[in-house]
Amino acid sequence: MRPVVAIDGPAGSGKSTLARSLGEVLGLDVLDTGAMYRAATLRVIAVMGEDLPTPVGESRDDSWKLHVAEVVRECVIDVDSRVRLDGLDVTEDIRTDRVDQVVSIVASIPVLREDLVSRQRQWIYAHGGGVVEGRDIGTVVYPDADLKVYLTASIESRAERRAIEKAIGEKAEIESMIDRRDKLDMSRATGALPSIEMTALAASGKENNIMVIDSTEHNADDVLNMVLSRLEHIGIYRFSKTEVPEHGVEKHPHEEVPG
Ligand code: DC
Repeated sequence: MRPVVAIDGPAGSGKSTLARSLGEVLGLDVLDTGAMYRAATLRVIAVMGEDLPTPVGESRDDSWKLHVAEVVRECVIDVDSRVRLDGLDVTEDIRTDRVDQVVSIVASIPVLREDLVSRQRQWIYAHGGGVVEGRDIGTVVYPDADLKVYLTASIESRAERRAIEKAIGEKAEIESMIDRRDKLDMSRATGALPSIEMTALAASGKENNIMVIDSTEHNADDVLNMVLSRLEHIGIYRFSKTEVPEHGVEKHPHEEVPG
């Protein structure tokens, strides 16, 4: 088994960029678990349409959750450089505003999460390790990860990044959407964001396989180099000594130490 690197954090914190770069540098496959929840959401929207309850309507009969989980259990979801739902390429379809609005509701269904968490573990075993990004990877999906990174950033900079990604200028709208999703993602019982515990553990310095990085003031290269430095420290990676250090941190590319 090669190393497993877990990357958790809220929307727009830079998880995907970091995961892709780390995958490349370490020669590991990358799994975007958010894309799995999004693909599942696409199917749920197709089946439930406007019947899908909003979080405000929580007092309704809960049987829809079991129905939704059953529908998702039947789906084949493949996530690599493209995302496929029952063989159909849905890479672009999972990034629509409608999916953005509904995905947190779908992801809050415990029995559906159990199903996807189990698929994510199977992916890790089948790929013999990897870089896995999401919300609950270091806490629920794979607590034995060799390194657990929790990425954060101010809501302003996260909204700005998403606005650039989506090539639209409505930062305020994106900010309020991210804020709403943060609240939903953080308040649910299963797979809640691990910030308090992780921050305390990382700050204690006792657990060198846990890092909390606030990327508000750092670009993607800085964050990558911080993570690579930690991976070197725990013996999973070796910097090439020929590279010129930048900002006091040596730069990649370097050699991976096989796990
Ligand atoms: O990372 P993302 O924005 O594409 O994630 C989409 C949604 O899926 C987000 O609202 C949180 C949820 N999610 C989750 O609950 N657990 C994960 N491991 C990954 C994503």
